[in-house]
Amino acid sequence: MNTQARHADALERLQFEVFPTLDDAQRFKADHYRKHLSLFAEGQFVAIAGDEVVGATSTIRRHFDFTHADHDFDAIIQGGWLTSHEPDGDWLYGADLGVHPAHRGRGIARALYAARQQLVWTLGLRGQIAVGMMSGYGAHRDEMSAEEYLERLRAGTINDPTLSMQRRLGFTLRQLLPGHVHDPVCDDYGVLIVLDAATPVEGAVRPPTGERR
Ligand SMILES: CC(C)(COP(=O)(O)OP(=O)(O)OC[C@H]1O[C@@H](n2cnc3c(N)ncnc32)[C@H](O)[C@@H]1OP(=O)(O)O)[C@@H](O)C(=O)NCCC(=O)NCCS
Repeated sequence: MNTQARHADALERLQFEVFPTLDDAQRFKADHYRKHLSLFAEGQFVAIAGDEVVGATSTIRRHFDFTHADHDFDAIIQGGWLTSHEPDGDWLYGADLGVHPAHRGRGIARALYAARQQLVWTLGLRGQIAVGMMSGYGAHRDEMSAEEYLERLRAGTINDPTLSMQRRLGFTLRQLLPGHVHDPVCDDYGVLIVLDAATPVEGAVRPPTGERR
């Protein structure tokens, strides 16, 4: 469902569960979540189990120049407030997505990406862009370069807890972004990922023509 202001405190707690080693300055807090609702309410989603918030994603709209794709997380989150949102942007940019560790493996991330793809279709956008954390790389940084790790991921010979999931959902792994986020789990590496609007996502329903904007 779309996020409501009443979810803000639970979302702040969920950030600690989902991103335990991320620099705290890059975690969203309750006030940030309330601000995101005033910026772009339809781009904010939560997954609820009972009364508990067990998953969430925050998105904005952006123009994106693929010839100058290098950028960092701070430029997107603007201190957490997501004020880099461009109301007429033609891409849906996913600033974060996470599922509580106790609820993983049940299709919650897939449902959140499906909700995002439905919004892409409703708004007539070009697709989804995000930067996936290369979250298995920190443990392998002494064995191979980040470039080699990404090549192996593309070839499907190794598995990454974040990027392999995104690849499975249909995202293409475009470009390595060194120093993107501050988190030892990925040795600060992100990978620019793109899901074209033409790609179906299981669970996403195309809105009737009359409801598209
Ligand atoms: C990555 C994450 C969001 C996955 O959430 P989830 O709810 O467990 O994922 P789902 O159950 O919806 O899985 C979706 C698909 O990806 C696959 N998948 C999930 N985790 C995977 C993993 N670790 N390795 C490979 N594939 C994986 C699933 O098998 C499923 O495909 P299938 O239905 O064809 O079998 C969750 O582990 C998480 O929050 N991690 C930490 C934060 C993070 O990395 N966020 C991503 C944005 S940076």
